Amino acid sequence: MAHLVWSADLDTGIAEIDRQHQRIAQYINTLYNLRSSPDRQALSKVIADTAEYTESHFAFEESLLEQAGYTFLGPHKKVHELFIRRIVSIQERFEAGEDVAEELHKLLSRWLFSHIRTEDHAYASIVKKYLNRVDAAQRQGAADAETRHIDYEKLFPELEHRMQKKGWLARLFGR
Ligand SMILES: [Fe+2]
Ligand SMILES: [Fe+2]
Repeated sequence: MAHLVWSADLDTGIAEIDRQHQRIAQYINTLYNLRSSPDRQALSKVIADTAEYTESHFAFEESLLEQAGYTFLGPHKKVHELFIRRIVSIQERFEAGEDVAEELHKLLSRWLFSHIRTEDHAYASIVKKYLNRVDAAQRQGAADAETRHIDYEKLFPELEHRMQKKGWLARLFGR
């Protein structure tokens, strides 16, 4: 498998999630370009960046699923967790001097699209409905300040609070 190429069937229809998934695919493609590079420092950086960005995306996604009241958040989190553990153990082998770039690239590129097509697509309609409600309440504006207040408070501060802890927002949104 060479470069990952985004196709429309991967879209969840949730703009921010789709943007983040495409960004992860870009990281994986950069890893592919550098996989046999003798420059271990550059390789180390792209491995760390890919792992960190993926972890930030997982945190964002889990916060959103939590806010949307998604029933299968628990199992979804578990899948993310196990995947991160696999990446970290490969990353540790890299730092110990092993040549793991090819193996890591294979794992990431296989995993990402299959996870998006199955587990991530499974939550799409629930989250879209939730975001539509938030959006509708937001657009109601001054006509119903209380609804707007509740939805804002529920969604954004909790997301931000959880994500600011590790600088996740900065990573995802360049803040
Ligand atoms: Fe996911
Ligand atoms: Fe995802």
